[in-house]
Amino acid sequence: MRVLVTGARGMLGAEVVERFRAAGLEVHGATRAELDITRPEQARALFDALRPNLVVHCAAMTNVDACERQPQDAYRANAFGAEVIASHCQRVDAACVYISTDYVFDGAKGSPYHEYDAENPLSVYGKSKFAGEQAVRAICPRHYIVRVAWLYGKYRKSFPQFVVEQARAGGSPTVISDQIGSPTYTADVADRLLQLVRTDCYGVYHLTNASPVSRYEFAEALLGMLGVQASLTPLPFAQWQTPATRPRYSALASWRLEWAGVAPMPPWQDALQRFVQNDL
Ligand SMILES: NC(=O)c1ccc[n+]([C@@H]2O[C@H](COP(=O)([O-])OP(=O)(O)OC[C@H]3O[C@@H](n4cnc5c(N)ncnc54)[C@H](OP(=O)(O)O)[C@@H]3O)[C@@H](O)[C@H]2O)c1
Repeated sequence: MRVLVTGARGMLGAEVVERFRAAGLEVHGATRAELDITRPEQARALFDALRPNLVVHCAAMTNVDACERQPQDAYRANAFGAEVIASHCQRVDAACVYISTDYVFDGAKGSPYHEYDAENPLSVYGKSKFAGEQAVRAICPRHYIVRVAWLYGKYRKSFPQFVVEQARAGGSPTVISDQIGSPTYTADVADRLLQLVRTDCYGVYHLTNASPVSRYEFAEALLGMLGVQASLTPLPFAQWQTPATRPRYSALASWRLEWAGVAPMPPWQDALQRFVQNDL
């Protein structure tokens, strides 16, 4: 199988390149310099040169507040970019994995969202990613729309690294006390993607580590596993002022993964333990 990964220098893209190669697949990881997803002619040339059977589309504008401030840039990368990638997948007969987000939901449900729940994004980031989903669905029938959430991994600093850095420096990291979601280890996403793309079960998937947890509880567990003595400063979600509106509750439930015959995602505690042991 010839695989093209977009956004190969990103946190998830780099992990997918590493793990798909380790599984023996022929993988081309494209950085933005080689494949800017908003440039259709550049994409055409690369797709013609590589003729991939599968594209894992990880590239996106992922800074949620920057998307709110620059909506045109957000829609260009997250919606138009997805249209470009899906169009070329369809043209060269490649299946398309589109990585999407828990932020397509508004949080009003208050219990884990499954794949058949109705979307209602609150932010420009969520809306532009949802527009990307709809484009992929319409343009490329052989698609997997894979929603992930609260990613962490070894290829880029994210929430866990920031908490640990501050705590080790003697600080008391401020953590939202009542925002609930599904923190997810990029290594687990890449492993399950490997299984998923070997099925012909196209459609929407929620690919997150199991069981909802608050940011606060997650941070506490992280420091506990590392034996770092530090106190956290809780901040209520209602007092968290950011340009973009985020859902207070965005935990996901993965129904379709098991139905497609893919091993269930491990619980968040198990994933965090492996991250602490291997990657931190
Ligand atoms: N991180 C999360 O918590 C999270 C949660 C839910 C969903 N997701 C989704 O998961 C996917 C991967 O996220 P991530 O955390 O790995 O993101 P990331 O680390 O920010 O990586 C995104 C990559 O996309 C590249 N990129 C941006 N615009 C591009 C363009 N026009 N053409 C080509 N490449 C472009 C960036 O390149 P540069 O380095 O050059 O900027 C970067 O390498 C994204 O689709 C994101 O929406 C992430």
